[in-house]
Amino acid sequence: MALIFRTGFARVPLWREAFRRQAPELEFRAWDEPGDINEIEFALVWKPPRGVLRGFPNLKVIFSLGAGVDHLLSDPELPAGVPVVRMIDTELTRGMTEYVALHVLRHHRRQRTLDALQRAGTWNMIVTPTAPSRRVGIMGLGVLGQAAATALAALEFDLAGWSRTEHRIDGVECFHGRDGLGPFLARSEILVCLLPLTAATEGILNAALFAQLPKGASVINAARGGHQVEADILAALDSGRLSEVTLDVFQTEPLPADHPFWTHPRVTVTPHNASVTDPDSGARQVIENIRRVRRGEALPNIVDPAAGY
Ligand SMILES: NC(=O)c1ccc[n+]([C@@H]2O[C@H](COP(=O)([O-])OP(=O)(O)OC[C@H]3O[C@@H](n4cnc5c(N)ncnc54)[C@H](OP(=O)(O)O)[C@@H]3O)[C@@H](O)[C@H]2O)c1
Repeated sequence: MALIFRTGFARVPLWREAFRRQAPELEFRAWDEPGDINEIEFALVWKPPRGVLRGFPNLKVIFSLGAGVDHLLSDPELPAGVPVVRMIDTELTRGMTEYVALHVLRHHRRQRTLDALQRAGTWNMIVTPTAPSRRVGIMGLGVLGQAAATALAALEFDLAGWSRTEHRIDGVECFHGRDGLGPFLARSEILVCLLPLTAATEGILNAALFAQLPKGASVINAARGGHQVEADILAALDSGRLSEVTLDVFQTEPLPADHPFWTHPRVTVTPHNASVTDPDSGARQVIENIRRVRRGEALPNIVDPAAGY
């Protein structure tokens, strides 16, 4: 029984150690040392090169190393019939909740302006309203969106959320579907994107959407770079339609050195680190699922390829 592992950056030893400690019976194989490919039953991967997973003849489950699965479903040669399971993990959720709370508060309290005033040596006592007067909109009411909403609700922000299907969440005004988008945007002074990247959501953060936000609204995108039309963000900042943006994800990653986002005075750039899967707790989720497969039990969190998430 072997698991093939691929990550985007150099944390293979940490993952290998987490699996060795928690499931010594499972053979952990790094992507560039697959050994006998007939022995590989499980893949735990991030952005595998197109077509490669099809080459493992006895693959039973593909586990995504991240919550998003666009990096897998975009492969037209993904082996048909092999379930794809996404990563749902308390540490991953906690990391994103921290990111959203931090940046919503920064936008809400105009911390960027205060930082600039400090650099200029200027004492200007900016007074901001408190959270109940601030309307925050969360696009995506899934695992991460709901956790972020819970944290922001504790601070008493005036919350709304938007999803594909209807939800009822205490303390969150819920909108859904195309018809719900306009009214949701109209009341979102701080917009947080936590959508999966699918055919329906690609490029959704564009000029037409920004035009429906209150003038001077701000945007936080912690989902995927494919959601944002970067030229439209720059134009909306320049026109004053958007006051500021915080972006963790980009069309091209790493963000190219000459990209205007790096130096724009009203853009915060973070290096796709809003939430990174923790090896110990991530391995625990995968091992539990492998044991479920062994016992012939159904797997949770299987992705619906038709929905794209
Ligand atoms: N930057 C980072 O470090 C980082 C880390 C982890 C995850 N992420 C991103 O965060 C995303 C969200 O993760 P999650 O675990 O919360 O996903 P999830 O549980 O699958 O939730 C997705 C939410 O988006 C909604 N949605 C999907 N398509 C929609 C559409 N066409 N219109 C309106 N709403 C739509 C879903 O609606 P329903 O509830 O109606 O199904 C659901 O509420 C991931 O896909 C990933 O891209 C980023």
